[in-house]
Amino acid sequence: MPWVVRDAVRDINRMVSRRWQALDRLLPDPAALPAGCGAPLAVNGDNGRLAGLGICVHQHIPAESLNQTWGAADRFTLVPRLAGQDVAAPADALLSQWRDHLAGIGAARGPDTSASVVWPSQDITGIRALLRHGLQPVTVIAARVRPSGPPPAPRGAYGVTIRAAGPADEEQVTDLELRLIRYDMHFGGPVWRAATARLVRAEIRASLARPATWTWLAERAGRAVGLIVAQPPQDAGWITGMTSLAPAAYLQTMFVDQQERGTGIGAALVRHVHAMLDGAGIAVTLLHHSQVNPLSAPFWYRMGYRPLWTSWEARPASALR
Ligand SMILES: CC(C)(COP(=O)(O)OP(=O)(O)OC[C@H]1O[C@@H](n2cnc3c(N)ncnc32)[C@H](O)[C@@H]1OP(=O)(O)O)[C@@H](O)C(=O)NCCC(=O)NCCS
Repeated sequence: MPWVVRDAVRDINRMVSRRWQALDRLLPDPAALPAGCGAPLAVNGDNGRLAGLGICVHQHIPAESLNQTWGAADRFTLVPRLAGQDVAAPADALLSQWRDHLAGIGAARGPDTSASVVWPSQDITGIRALLRHGLQPVTVIAARVRPSGPPPAPRGAYGVTIRAAGPADEEQVTDLELRLIRYDMHFGGPVWRAATARLVRAEIRASLARPATWTWLAERAGRAVGLIVAQPPQDAGWITGMTSLAPAAYLQTMFVDQQERGTGIGAALVRHVHAMLDGAGIAVTLLHHSQVNPLSAPFWYRMGYRPLWTSWEARPASALR
């Protein structure tokens, strides 16, 4: 990277860092920008000085990766760094440049593509620009900080026991996980692929074979009615950089059988896992939920989570305008 660009990135990162800390103390220091597909997109403010940068990252997710189930096969992501109190104008200018950049890329015109921007949820001044460019808020990364006071007494659900899952539970865990994916597909996030069921089962088999699996089942009369899966900090490195606190864990899966919802099973599972995480000194727990899932947002916010990042997406990528 030429020194002029390197200095500009450093100055912008410094300003963005101050801005993010003022918005939300759980945001991290803006990481060094990733290597993108070309030179950074740059926008100037009214005073002619650099007001923001953006890097476009192209990713092709192969069919043999479970990651392809979580979104489009070809993903174009803008990583923005915008300075100033109000980022509406530089966000608008940056998104216009990005749209023009993607319009010149053949791979961005296919049906199985997405254009996305992960935006601090508290950074409200750029939201109208995101909407104007055809982006929709699809998923939220929510966070729960370990409470400082004594933990609430664990509360069970009547007639339900919670236990760690093991290799013999592969069938039940796979069934609940696939039902969660099918449920979440209503909200425009996951895509059912030819390999989804096979890859989910393989991942579950490998994870249940580990000595300490972070997978728990809720059972009523011997039948699995709820599932929760967490990732310890050493497995959650792919997302822990999204927050300033460490160590961070990730809640990967939460599902309760439809007939059993609203009876306290979800809360019992979450409290069970929170007691373990808090006891292990985990400072913050992150999770993804769909912005428009009518069950998950109210549930997670009752359980002590709040929004940290919102992922804005145009799918296909050509819907960016
Ligand atoms: C989200 C889900 C796991 C909640 O499980 P549940 O067993 O129904 O939740 P509980 O009965 O334990 O409810 C716990 C608390 O949240 C509240 N709550 C649960 N769902 C709610 C909703 N949709 N709206 C408002 N409050 C809700 C309950 O009233 C209860 O509050 P209380 O502590 O004051 O009694 C369940 O609805 C589910 O499996 N949904 C489909 C899959 C899904 O969305 N998973 C999350 C993906 S991120």
